[in-house]
Amino acid sequence: MSENKAFTLDAKPIEFQDGDTIMDAALRAGAYIPHLCHNPEFEPHGSCRVCVVGVNGRRVSACTQPATEGLEVENNSEAIKQERRALLQMLFVEGNHVCPGCEKSGACQLQAVAYYVGMLDPHFTHFFPRRLVDASHAEVAIDFNRCILCELCVRASCDVDKKNVFSISGRGIGSHLVINSPSGKLGDSDFSVNDKAAQVCPVGAILHKHTGYDRPIGERLYDRQPISVVGDVAEHEGKDHG
Ligand code: SF4
Ligand code: FES
Repeated sequence: MSENKAFTLDAKPIEFQDGDTIMDAALRAGAYIPHLCHNPEFEPHGSCRVCVVGVNGRRVSACTQPATEGLEVENNSEAIKQERRALLQMLFVEGNHVCPGCEKSGACQLQAVAYYVGMLDPHFTHFFPRRLVDASHAEVAIDFNRCILCELCVRASCDVDKKNVFSISGRGIGSHLVINSPSGKLGDSDFSVNDKAAQVCPVGAILHKHTGYDRPIGERLYDRQPISVVGDVAEHEGKDHG
């Protein structure tokens, strides 16, 4: 008799190991749960809520919820998809995401997840915040208009690079990414294009200079297959620039 522990995801059994979250076990089993702030290389953060799933009538974040025996997890129901669409619509109107002109278009996780959940319009009124672009670094530019506050660069810089180049400042709608340098500019920090933090941005906020628009439309990361098949942007960084 099998000793493996399992829960169900949309009525399909998913085996898990001790310490797994619902997300960990699902991704290992090849079952896609949409996500933005989750990256298996880092501690779960639970901020974007795009990975919302239903568990016994409650809404939880799959990336932070521990897997336990016998859970019945609802992932692809119309109700869950609608909640994810609304979350994504809010993310799109809170920033300035102009996909047709963005270097990351076609290889952007925000855009790819929006396509995956069937988001067809922004629905809400655009905030049009006034945000700057920091092009002060020789190799990397940051467009704060596209930041979705996933904190992956914050975690990567702190946990892997041991540099602490990024922080989130402010609260609620006033939250924003800041650079920890004397001038607040990236060029005035010890950030390097080779840092882990330079490889993890799921959107077009942290951009490597000199490489934009290097894949023609039709050959970009998510042009041929959806994110549920292709996987996260960070898995392809260095191999597949969009
Ligand atoms: Fe996330 Fe990119 Fe914003 Fe950093 S710059 S918080 S990686 S979206
Ligand atoms: Fe789970 Fe962002 S991926 S909260």
